[in-house]
Amino acid sequence: MEDESSEKRNQARLKVLELANMISVPMSLNAVVRLGVPDAIWQSGSNSPLSASQILTRVLPSSSSSAASADPDNLQRLLRTLTSYGVFSEHISGEIRKYSLTDVGKTLVTDSDGLSYAPYVLQHHQDALMRAWSLLHEAVVDPTTEPFAKANGEPAYKYYGKMPEMNGLMQRAMSGVSVPFMKAILNGYDGFEGVRRLVDVGGSAGDCLRMILQKYPNVTEAINFDLPEVVARAPHVPGVTHVGGDMFKLIPEADAIFMKWILTTWTDDECQAIMESCCKAVPGGGKLIACEPVLPKETDDSHRTRALLSGDIFVMTIYRAKGKHRTEDEYRKLGLAAGFPHFQAFYIDYFHTVLEFTK
Ligand SMILES: C[S@@+](CC[C@H](N)C(=O)[O-])C[C@H]1O[C@@H](n2cnc3c(N)ncnc32)[C@H](O)[C@@H]1O
Repeated sequence: MEDESSEKRNQARLKVLELANMISVPMSLNAVVRLGVPDAIWQSGSNSPLSASQILTRVLPSSSSSAASADPDNLQRLLRTLTSYGVFSEHISGEIRKYSLTDVGKTLVTDSDGLSYAPYVLQHHQDALMRAWSLLHEAVVDPTTEPFAKANGEPAYKYYGKMPEMNGLMQRAMSGVSVPFMKAILNGYDGFEGVRRLVDVGGSAGDCLRMILQKYPNVTEAINFDLPEVVARAPHVPGVTHVGGDMFKLIPEADAIFMKWILTTWTDDECQAIMESCCKAVPGGGKLIACEPVLPKETDDSHRTRALLSGDIFVMTIYRAKGKHRTEDEYRKLGLAAGFPHFQAFYIDYFHTVLEFTK
């Protein structure tokens, strides 16, 4: 029998203590984003190390009602934890600890277009989503209703639709994540050549189409198709027509259909229904270009695999208990069943894969 005090056993105990308290990490991340810490440190690129007190004077100006009671020690506790997870760099001089942003922390800084990954962090930690997490085990016991709907009485998109601030945050979150992705795929994938009329299904604020149009002037008709309450608040994008509708009912006709981060959130049957609508909307030889997170076959502890697997659990909790991150093979089969005989996958981006289905 193994010695209970062996190094191996102790490491295992430490690991489980870390896992059991893991929620402290994303909640600390959410807290520093809510407080505006990344932008306060970045200050137009200076990224000079700051103490927690110095950060507080920037995020809570002395005129604000909470400035007098704010607690730098508690902010420092958050910063130390996030330093351990690579978000901040710590600079110690005597008793003073100061913090700057690492490359990970910089993803949370608002850029010149007003975008960053910060809204994505906030979007994932809103109260309605947090309520669902404690019901995650029920997705195993009863997968017919996702934890979000159990906790909030209705499915996520319906719920967001009634909350303009949630819809707004969702759009900012999607824009922040989509822009770097689109830059990558527009450099490495040429499937939009020859396309005249393009529909982006579930296109949110229209950022993906805006970027496609900049590179492909051959796209002369671009339709951003999303739920009516979403397109109602989408900004004007030159060359893009916003159309409200329901992809389960009718998708506008096009030479090609683009979609990003859509199929993942639905069950196999729902994906097949969406893909069949896409198939009806394009002519013979027409394409459905879907960009989705695709799971590797093997499980490992790389950041990529962890981002994909943890996102898979997010989908199970929030969108559909049987919505999921799929493998390439699962997508190929869904495409075949929906009427697309040809399939190709392009691994260009670090997270999403371009899945090209041809009719
Ligand atoms: C995860 S977001 C992806 C947004 C965007 N494609 C991107 O990647 O930045 C899913 C999108 O699907 C839209 N959506 C959900 N249900 C829909 C439906 N029934 N018909 C059309 N769009 C829908 C949502 O409003 C949301 O904008």
